[in-house]
Amino acid sequence: NAITIQTLPLSIIHIPRSSRPSSPVQMRTPIPAPAPAAPPLVQGPPPPFQKPHQLVAFSYTPAREQVFDNSSLRYFIEPPRNADLGYGIQRWIRKPEERARLDGLLVACLRKEVKAERKRADFITWRGIMTKIFTAPYEQREGWDLNVMCVNGTIYLEEHVSDRQLDLKQDLAPDHLRMTYYGYAFESYCTRSEPPLKQNGDGNTPAPSKPGWGGDVDTNVQWCSVVKTKLGDLRLILGGEVDCVRDTYVGQPDTFVELKTSAEIRSTYKGDKRKFELKLLKFYTQSFLLGVPEIVVGFRSPEGRLTQYLPFQTSRLPKLVRESTKQWEPGTCVQWAHETLQFLKRTVGTATGTVTRAGSPGDYESRARNVWRLRFEPGFGLKLWLLHES
Ligand code: A3P
Ligand code: MG
Ligand code: MG
Repeated sequence: NAITIQTLPLSIIHIPRSSRPSSPVQMRTPIPAPAPAAPPLVQGPPPPFQKPHQLVAFSYTPAREQVFDNSSLRYFIEPPRNADLGYGIQRWIRKPEERARLDGLLVACLRKEVKAERKRADFITWRGIMTKIFTAPYEQREGWDLNVMCVNGTIYLEEHVSDRQLDLKQDLAPDHLRMTYYGYAFESYCTRSEPPLKQNGDGNTPAPSKPGWGGDVDTNVQWCSVVKTKLGDLRLILGGEVDCVRDTYVGQPDTFVELKTSAEIRSTYKGDKRKFELKLLKFYTQSFLLGVPEIVVGFRSPEGRLTQYLPFQTSRLPKLVRESTKQWEPGTCVQWAHETLQFLKRTVGTATGTVTRAGSPGDYESRARNVWRLRFEPGFGLKLWLLHES
């Protein structure tokens, strides 16, 4: 029997204190400026990205327990006009800021629905991490660090947050915290726990959906989808939170909806539109990686009022931006991500002692569990080095 991940502690990426960095393996990649004339990074068409297929879904309860049911799944409803996005902020139950490890995703990967795919996956990670990799060519401000580890031929990617970064997250300025809350309040106004088309007694007439507050915000509660997909010939398993579904849940991403808030676009300020369309790259990438077909954006006034909301079809966003401010091309991101993942597979995936899928438990225990660090620096590219050699 092949070794399964069950033999591993959940947070498989364990970095001992004695870690000593080796010299970096560098991949210098030109980062295109987000200007209309930005040349494609790599010539030729980008590799195909396969439509994501859901393997399993799970919920986090208010007690932050991970349960394999749809108890935290929510359904889209139209939000009320001019809703106050600051409503209920004093009752906000905040999930503590902590390092986002892979644990929840690894538990999901132990489910029978994921087993076969997990064994042949090239990469397993959260969707948010893959979003960072995809959007890096257009990222000019924020760098990031990942821990990278190859176990039985599968590469696991986990964000590495420094103590300083964690402190900053835990200690957000009041204004920043309020803006963050607006995003969650929008989710509450736009969703409810019951399907909107729930049939009434005679079984035919849909119950009217009542717009209004969907319940106080508890950020412990989440519903997550785990999908398999392919980028070129690389097999990926990605997990990520899904805000709600439209009308009905069909067990696949076809009815998933991503909710987002953004500042109102003032027609008198050209910069507003540019800023929004650049943000669309993140909305687009985050959504298409899980196969989310629809994004509903709520626009807010500086005072935190919901002044308008608009549904967007994820697949149409590239064209919208191409015909407007031309700030990004998804092909550039797909090419770059493919190149990055291939680079990791060549180095991390084939380093002595970390590859091969088959093997006995004895083999496994004796195999090195090297931990690598991948660093992205805006305007420079990527650096990879061996962080800990076991
Ligand atoms: P908005 O994105 O609408 O502002 P998501 O959109 O990914 O479902 O996340 C829901 C909300 O969580 C966001 O709403 C935002 O308020 C908050 N959030 C998500 N990622 C964040 C981050 N990196 N930093 C701060 N807040 C974040
Ligand atoms: Mg969300
Ligand atoms: Mg959202």
